[in-house]
Amino acid sequence: MGDQIRHIDLTNQLPARVPGAVLHALQALARGEAVEFLTAVDPAHAMAVANLQWRDMLAWETRTAGRGRWRTVVRRREDVAPSDAVDVLMRDHKRLDALFAHALQSVNEGRMRQTAADLQGFAEGLRRHIHVENDVLHPLFSRPQGSPEAESAVAMLREHEEILAQTALLEDFFASGLPRAQEVAAFFAILSGLLAKHEHREEIGLFPYWRAAISHAPTAVGAHLLATAREAVEGRASAKEGDADEDR
Ligand SMILES: [Fe+2]
Ligand SMILES: [Fe+2]
Repeated sequence: MGDQIRHIDLTNQLPARVPGAVLHALQALARGEAVEFLTAVDPAHAMAVANLQWRDMLAWETRTAGRGRWRTVVRRREDVAPSDAVDVLMRDHKRLDALFAHALQSVNEGRMRQTAADLQGFAEGLRRHIHVENDVLHPLFSRPQGSPEAESAVAMLREHEEILAQTALLEDFFASGLPRAQEVAAFFAILSGLLAKHEHREEIGLFPYWRAAISHAPTAVGAHLLATAREAVEGRASAKEGDADEDR
């Protein structure tokens, strides 16, 4: 990737000290930078701890390096291309959260023109995101009724309806001029709660299943889903069936 790599040898550390040492070394991990650790213990636990501290913003690859040692290269997740369509959706959750947080801040400060712009950006992104979930991944991986995966999918579809309805209700307030902050603040708060619960449930209940299904699908299918999801959430594709031919 042509980025700078810092090499850190932790093979002399006691196993119990490795997570702390990894965390310390990653403290100032900058964009475009990579850190490579050499460890004498499997770094999976240390990396899980570090990633939790980093609020899931790390990407890493571990390889065995012979003689009971492991080599792990760590980068910021934003510096690494998404690994699959589910990764695209998880990153998009963070992006949508940030857009919505900005809208909430604008409404709390009574800046209604800015709120209208923020809401519009969020709503467009939300519809593109839900399109990928409802129309691209869900039909492909739907499971027999009664299975836990099917129940998670039913819950997802229902919550999408609620979130879209709540978003449309908010947009209605802005359809003919700017409302006062007090008129809409409570509706923003309701949507904020719906969104947070929904994203969490998807990431815990449905995404692990989708991710496993993608990993068992032929490589070309996974690559096509990744490209389709990326283009759709970024608004680059018209997000409709038949886009497949334009991918190459
Ligand atoms: Fe969703
Ligand atoms: Fe989602």
